Amino acid sequence: MRSSRLPASLAPNRLAEAVAHRRASGQPLLDLTESNPTRVGLAYPPELLAPLAGHEALSYDPQPFGRAAAREAVSDDYARRAVSVPPAHVCLAASTSEAYAWLFKLLCDPDDRVLVPRPSYPLFEHLTALECVEASPYELEREGHWRIDVDALARQVDERTKAVLVVSPNNPTGSVLQRDELDALAAVCADRDLVLIGDEVFADYPLDGAPPAPSVMQQPVATAVSLGGLSKSVGLPQVKVAWLAVGGPASADVMAGLEIVADTFLSVSTPAQVALPALLQDGAAVREAIRARIARNLQALRAAVAGAPAMTLLPPAGGWCAVLQVPAVRSEESLVLALVEHDGVLVHPGYFFDFPGEAFVIVSLLPSPEVFDTALARLLVRAVEAA
Ligand SMILES: Cc1ncc(COP(=O)(O)O)c(C=O)c1O
Repeated sequence: MRSSRLPASLAPNRLAEAVAHRRASGQPLLDLTESNPTRVGLAYPPELLAPLAGHEALSYDPQPFGRAAAREAVSDDYARRAVSVPPAHVCLAASTSEAYAWLFKLLCDPDDRVLVPRPSYPLFEHLTALECVEASPYELEREGHWRIDVDALARQVDERTKAVLVVSPNNPTGSVLQRDELDALAAVCADRDLVLIGDEVFADYPLDGAPPAPSVMQQPVATAVSLGGLSKSVGLPQVKVAWLAVGGPASADVMAGLEIVADTFLSVSTPAQVALPALLQDGAAVREAIRARIARNLQALRAAVAGAPAMTLLPPAGGWCAVLQVPAVRSEESLVLALVEHDGVLVHPGYFFDFPGEAFVIVSLLPSPEVFDTALARLLVRAVEAA
């Protein structure tokens, strides 16, 4: 009955089973995979969502790309990060996942390919498969920090390749696109007629005083689409607003195609569009609270790892999570299962994100300090113990 766009098996993996079992038994679980900012005890301004009830939201005036004031607010928000995007080149969507789906519909025929980073966000596998597109991974290589081998990437391009996707800051490596990498990637895309898609949802979260990552919009040669959204930029995933910003030589063509796709769905609610300018302004308080939280937890992580010589922190340059290399005294799966079953701690194993080799675990930097510190202490003990 199901199409081949869906995974052949829908059975839960062993970690999901262990988590379900622990929860069903009523035992507590400290979640170091939590990436939902609304669940980690941050103080949201109580009136933050009041603009959703704005008077203008009472009338429906559908616009494929979104209401003019909302698109201007997104353009202003890019300007805050010194990125120039005219409002006419902004299109709203309900989530970046939806934005990806629209881009794949727009750019790809069935069985076409997009190049995606590895390790990176596991949802790409589903987002591409659901559009009958092939995700072709290019490796991020770790030489002190994660880098793209742009020559190797260029050799992967064939006649079915339509786009190159970069995630900066990347989830979960925390790596950030460097200026020279952006220029080299843009040259490949311009030369091979590919669209450069930049997932910039974590752009507001450079870590350790790192400079903000360059945007794919900050190069003149390649057609580029930058993705962002309220989920991360102001910690409001429940409002369901994201955006695509389009630039470069074929931007008029991309916008024309996007208009058809977006007009077919008209998915962003009017209240959310009406509220968007205020949410982008007032949400700055949430962004600051998230920044403070991740900086605090990264500091605590650094201090804890300094006292655990068998452990290495792969320092993130941006984003909401961190990668720990742990002794390969047991498999990643055995470690994460033991953590759930014996310690009541949930972390992600590196293999979820296609890390090269073992053993890595990924921790979210969002949890409350109490949860973070307690769970981390248990992780550090368990990770050095043989199975
Ligand atoms: C790299 C990356 N892109 C996109 C998203 C999803 O964002 P949205 O909630 O807008 O779909 C996530 C969510 O964690 C992410 O890690």
